[in-house]
Amino acid sequence: MKPVNKLIQQDGAIQDRAIFWDEDIYQKEMEEIFARCWLFLTHESIIPDEGDYQSTMMGEDSVVVARQKDGSIKAFVNSCTHRGNAVCFSDGGNAKSFTCPYHGWVFGMDGNLVDVPLEKQAYHNEIDKDALHLKKIRVESYKGFVFGTFDDEAPSLKDYLGGMAWYMDSFMDVPGGCELIGPPMKSILDCNWKNPTENFIGDGYHVGWAHASALEIAGGPLAIAKGNAVYDAETSGLQVTVPEGHGFGVIWEGAAALHGGPVFEAYQKWLDDRSPLIREKMGEHREKFYRGHWDAAIFPNCSFLYGTNTFKMWQPRGPHSIEVLTWTLVEKEMPDQLKQMIHTDNMLTFGTAGILESDDGENMEQCTQTNRGYSTRQGTLYLGMGKGHEYLDPELPGLVSKGWVNEAPQRGMYRRWAEFMEGKPWSELSTTAQLEQKKVGG
Ligand code: FES
Ligand SMILES: [Fe+2]
Repeated sequence: MKPVNKLIQQDGAIQDRAIFWDEDIYQKEMEEIFARCWLFLTHESIIPDEGDYQSTMMGEDSVVVARQKDGSIKAFVNSCTHRGNAVCFSDGGNAKSFTCPYHGWVFGMDGNLVDVPLEKQAYHNEIDKDALHLKKIRVESYKGFVFGTFDDEAPSLKDYLGGMAWYMDSFMDVPGGCELIGPPMKSILDCNWKNPTENFIGDGYHVGWAHASALEIAGGPLAIAKGNAVYDAETSGLQVTVPEGHGFGVIWEGAAALHGGPVFEAYQKWLDDRSPLIREKMGEHREKFYRGHWDAAIFPNCSFLYGTNTFKMWQPRGPHSIEVLTWTLVEKEMPDQLKQMIHTDNMLTFGTAGILESDDGENMEQCTQTNRGYSTRQGTLYLGMGKGHEYLDPELPGLVSKGWVNEAPQRGMYRRWAEFMEGKPWSELSTTAQLEQKKVGG
């Protein structure tokens, strides 16, 4: 593997193409990023009752996340401690325990080994069941969004989210909070996991071009963006990157704008009615973010569009493939009918067969697959748009750029990627707190 400072240069603006292709870089990502970061698992609303569980992936590790007797949530690696078989073959459900299909070891919903066949006759009661629990995963929730990490040294989830949490509160901390509609849709895309992450974190640029035809069909107010017709850097929106690697772009007043017809009407009314409450609770900045449309990513591989309300995980499957998981994000207090309308719209636009998502599928796959060519792969790629125009806003966390067509969040993502790939300990990784100090001249 080339040294990291050759893979990412100029503060994230130049990337070596190898990072989208090379197996050794991918394995290093598994070690330095996916085994260390907080990774999204599920939402509390999807496993509300004792025994409810979901199976998912953390990097390439199969894991189960389950609601416990005491209401807490635990997660463990889905691999039997006898010979390694998977103990759970289901996507989710409700269970009292998991019984391994190979030799019948039984694990509780907390991952503890509770029973083994022939314990007396064949093991002579000498097996130490306490030592043979499934590998446990650290779990924390932020406003109902459940994350796990393999790294005991990792900071709290809240600190990991850094300045991004302040922004996400605009919708996560609304009265009643948010929830996800699951189970997630799943599909395979033959691209590197970073391609869709960088697309969601800050790629406002592609929208008017890649989605020109879909925007026309979708028909909501955002359809005016087709063909890059009305872009105005001063008034259109904002882009943000926080040192923790997360980021987003926002289109002001755009939350409902990709929904057409009656969904737009109903959702816009909901937003209008709620806005005074948001302003009262969180101030006028967050009210503005609440009413905006976001494309966003939580480093490393969770993305969402607030407004359109698609919520995604890009689960890596080797350097050239991912499994995409798609949920729908809604406010808990929305009427059921509105939730269902948003959910259906999400499937139509950003589901497996979504009309916008399928425009992107091809782009994502080719951005990866062109690097199959040895000579192609010797080159670099460029994310220099708006470089040097980021600024510190005294009232907003992170580094801010004007307009929603900009590549500042992508650069932030690759700066973070480089920090992790250099193997820095948590104490040496950049944080929002350090950036805040700069604002006050510290
Ligand atoms: S591998 Fe699970 S019981 Fe043997
Ligand atoms: Fe897109």
